[in-house]
Amino acid sequence: MSDRARFTTKMGAIAASVGSAVGLGNIWRFPYEAGENGGGAFILIYLACVLLMGIPVIVAEFVVGRATHRNVNGALKQLAPGSRTHWFAYIGIIASLMILSFYSVVCGWIVEYLILAVSGGLSGHTPEEYGVMFASFSSHPWRPMLWTVLFLLLNHLVLRRGLKRGIERISNMMMPVLFVILLIFCIHSLMMPGAGEGLRFMFAPRLSDVSATVAVKAMGQAFFSLSLGLSCLLTYASYFKDSDSLVRNATVIAFLDTLVAVLAGLMIFPAVFSYGMTPEAGPKLIFEVLPVIFQQMHFGIVWAVLLFLLLFVASITSTISMSEISIAFFEEEHGLSRDKATAVSTVIALVLGSLCALSFGPLSGVTVCGMTLFSLFDYVSSNLLLPAGGIFFSVFVGWMLEQRLVEDELTNRGTLNVRTMRVLLFCMRYVAPLAIAVVFFSLI
Ligand code: PHE
Repeated sequence: MSDRARFTTKMGAIAASVGSAVGLGNIWRFPYEAGENGGGAFILIYLACVLLMGIPVIVAEFVVGRATHRNVNGALKQLAPGSRTHWFAYIGIIASLMILSFYSVVCGWIVEYLILAVSGGLSGHTPEEYGVMFASFSSHPWRPMLWTVLFLLLNHLVLRRGLKRGIERISNMMMPVLFVILLIFCIHSLMMPGAGEGLRFMFAPRLSDVSATVAVKAMGQAFFSLSLGLSCLLTYASYFKDSDSLVRNATVIAFLDTLVAVLAGLMIFPAVFSYGMTPEAGPKLIFEVLPVIFQQMHFGIVWAVLLFLLLFVASITSTISMSEISIAFFEEEHGLSRDKATAVSTVIALVLGSLCALSFGPLSGVTVCGMTLFSLFDYVSSNLLLPAGGIFFSVFVGWMLEQRLVEDELTNRGTLNVRTMRVLLFCMRYVAPLAIAVVFFSLI
């Protein structure tokens, strides 16, 4: 596979993986899930999941990807020849297409808000009015769908330019800027009167909030936010060089991703409590709260435009990474050209994404188990498919792969001294799969 693309620099590989992990999951989904599920208790379980399941499963995916330099299906066929193991690849391929579909809808919302910010529509209203504004936009018969479609077409264009130029350049430039902007917003939010209540909500867990549902959602959030369990990081690791340190990369990704999520919480919750809004607002939370923060800032409109622009970039580096999974699969396993493979994945997302976009308006009455299509795709992929993929990867690498190969990958054939290797392997073999299974079973 020597002709496959590789990331040109070590930083490129890490930056692109961080680009995949950091996105709407951190800034849109984390605050709303935490808000709906009790705040502190959710965040504590989330952090435990990142540490005990997240890092070991990232490393497991990295081992499979880098050892083979192939897409998930091909990688599993190579490492477990003659078995049905490669069927597990489909969990990731299906999950990635489901996520791409509903995620693009939220990217569309970001575009709408970017335009609103530029045109001055995001100032001079009360928090309630911002709530009404979001509700009337998201239930509009075609506007959210239009943005979803345009977003997916843009995603398609970026992908067709190929891996290096498209992905690496965008992620390298934008991530540090996003980080600084988030910090500035946090400071503003933390200076609002009554901000302390928000901090208490985030960091003082109440035991009474802990439940099976909260645990499942916190675990799902950890997997979603880390782009984990669906072989996205596996696919990126297939582009890593043999000299990259897998353990270090995994730790850096988990740390930065968690940091951005916590910063997003610090930006949202103090403002929520300061203005007497409710943290349980659901998917619309940041769209109600951010305009309130902009109003507090000097040159609020400029900050608003900047934030939505960067959110947009952060989300496109994530959608690119989720698209890579099915594209690499169609390309390498079904012999499609890159252009055709990209087209197939875009068409699927266009159909499913349009349906999800209508979930808040014309299709709001279409529900399965009480969930609209949008929520169903989100729930099934994040909370069920990704952790299931996590069990698979940790068991596959921890138990089924030849351990010499695993240790060779972790130490780059004995050239790296990885002090945490034993602990990591222990977590991969026992802690991660058992903990995921326990959380699943607690639901029953
Ligand atoms: N981790 C991304 C985010 O936080 C979402 C994502 C999920 C990306 C799965 C790729 C795969 O926004």
